[in-house]
Amino acid sequence: MNVQAPTAVSQEQIDQQLAYIDRIAALSRDFEQQHGRRPRAYTQTFGCQQNEADTERIVGMLHEMGYVSTNQTSDADVLIYNTCAVREHAESRALGNIGALSHLKKERPEVIIGLCGCMVQQDHIPEKIRRSYPQVELLFGTHALWRFPEFLYRKLSGEKRVFDTSGDARGEIAEGLPVLREKGPRAWLSIMYGCNNFCTYCIVPYVRGRERSRRPEEIEKELRELVALGYKDITLLGQNVNSYGKDLEDAVDFSDLLCRLNQVPGDFLLRFMTSHPKDASHKLFDTMAACDKVAKQLHLPFQSGSDIVLKRMNRGYTAQHYRELIAYARQKMPDITLSSDIIVGFPGETEEDFAKTLDLVQQVGFDMLFTFLYSKRSGTPAATYEDPTSKEEKQDRFARLLQAQDACVLPRQQAYQDRVLRVLVDGTSKDPQYPLTARTEGGLLVCCAGPESKIGEFLEVKIEKTTLRCLFAREVDNRM
Ligand code: 5AD
Ligand code: SF4
Repeated sequence: MNVQAPTAVSQEQIDQQLAYIDRIAALSRDFEQQHGRRPRAYTQTFGCQQNEADTERIVGMLHEMGYVSTNQTSDADVLIYNTCAVREHAESRALGNIGALSHLKKERPEVIIGLCGCMVQQDHIPEKIRRSYPQVELLFGTHALWRFPEFLYRKLSGEKRVFDTSGDARGEIAEGLPVLREKGPRAWLSIMYGCNNFCTYCIVPYVRGRERSRRPEEIEKELRELVALGYKDITLLGQNVNSYGKDLEDAVDFSDLLCRLNQVPGDFLLRFMTSHPKDASHKLFDTMAACDKVAKQLHLPFQSGSDIVLKRMNRGYTAQHYRELIAYARQKMPDITLSSDIIVGFPGETEEDFAKTLDLVQQVGFDMLFTFLYSKRSGTPAATYEDPTSKEEKQDRFARLLQAQDACVLPRQQAYQDRVLRVLVDGTSKDPQYPLTARTEGGLLVCCAGPESKIGEFLEVKIEKTTLRCLFAREVDNRM
């Protein structure tokens, strides 16, 4: 039985989309003749790295269609907003930005405003947009992203509004469409899509569909291309990378994939996110330790330190299991950097539950935390749970968590004083003494002395100064 067949987009379907790209490219040439310039596209991304990777696909397609990128809404001909639904705040921001575009649409009615991504994949959103945001004339969900050329072509051919949120929750995998990545040494590489975990607070399984893994050979091919293009810091993406391969007919898991990718020749680092404690195995940590190109960095969200809350979140592990995983990872990789996501104020979280989260933060000692106030998402089980804790109380817990985290991070940062580390220079900073930014193998931010010509290079540096958020360093002179 070919398990992957129902989710793979056929070559014929991809070829159809490539044909739409060609047709739009012809329209763009006409546009250039008329206006003396090429059409411009503006894109804005909300939310996670997966969305950033999706936007790179949209931009890739737009470029093939003859568009040039602009970072201003005012002079764009096509504007695409790739939205997020994980928390209410991201939705309000997207809607606010789109609301503010109504004047642009009045001034230049030919402008095309499009909305895509996780927010629009929710049942109630297309209708809301249809009614209250007449300026939006293009809308498509996460499952139909690969059909963007067709949707844009229909809009350019005179259809008033092209709205499409079709697509199966099992989702699909489309290979072979263009992508245009951000400049710089870092790149995203999606290895799987969707999520099957149904944590009770989370909208992702509803908007991104079921887990589906790309084939290892496709991933390896893309990695080789990235390395040949000069990318040096490549992050493998998936909502839960630890369940990679479960849907493939070949017996391959995430550790096997890491081993395979580690053998690709070249000077580069591999990172990955996100891992789930329920599926993170000793085999994974053994593999990370054994693979020289795999960065010793682990983002392992625990969400809450209370077993009662974890159970009501449907997370599938206990705080003790989490502690054991971290202990094993640290035993194998003493220098590993650790980060986590935490939700504060989950419905029914008591002061006692919260104290357990604080305990776990203090015991583990994370290098970085991503902390979120619980946000009610309609359609998820937790949206129906009783939530008696006041907003003020939740905010107070949130502030205490940040304080506890800062208290843990400071000594961890200070411990880097005078150490020699290998870093990858990736940009410029505002500090005149340390004008470059770089990342350690563990993903920590370093400001570095040195010329801009070093951007994109690995350097051996010595840490001269540390603060809560940054390490400051200078290249070690190897000639001496
Ligand atoms: N409210 C707050 N935070 C959430 N996350 C996911 N859903 C919600 C929600 N409803 C957080 C989790 C997850 C991260 C990506 O976003 O911590 O790990
Ligand atoms: Fe959401 Fe849980 Fe899936 Fe992560 S693992 S995307 S938190 S449902």
